[in-house]
Amino acid sequence: MCRSSLSLLTFLILPLFFVGCQSQPALRLSDIDADLSNGQLIYEDDCILCHEGAIEGAHRLDQSDRWRESAKKGYERLVSNTIQGYRGKYGELPVMGMCPQCSESDIRDAVAYMLVSAGVMK
Ligand code: HEC
Repeated sequence: MCRSSLSLLTFLILPLFFVGCQSQPALRLSDIDADLSNGQLIYEDDCILCHEGAIEGAHRLDQSDRWRESAKKGYERLVSNTIQGYRGKYGELPVMGMCPQCSESDIRDAVAYMLVSAGVMK
């Protein structure tokens, strides 16, 4: 029950972020509210599976060129792509990065951690 109301909330609120942030992608850590230590835990538990091994086209954290390309979409868009799932030209990022037990805030933290580690968010 909790999860379905969370996704409903996500569905209603995310479009507002799109409108608000489209023109000015937030790539400064100081512009967002993220817990990088939690992001690292989530990354190491759930995202590393594909991202460290570059499985199915997932970018490793040391592939800064790929991350720079993604970062042009802005942080909010990357968060929503992770939550909703995204098929790009390199492969498929599954819904919630294959972490169904993650909250939206866990995903936000993990995406921020990845961008900071890749050197595209300071
Ligand atoms: C099953 C493999 C898989 C897992 C697990 C996974 N990813 Fe990915 N991810 C991908 C692939 C493949 C891409 C590249 C998609 C493309 O650009 O074609 C990607 C791309 C991304 C992007 C960039 C999206 C964009 O719009 O450019 C972000 C952000 C991301 N992943 C975050 C995460 C997070 C956070 C987690 C863990 C909660 C995670 N991923 C777990 C496969 C995975």
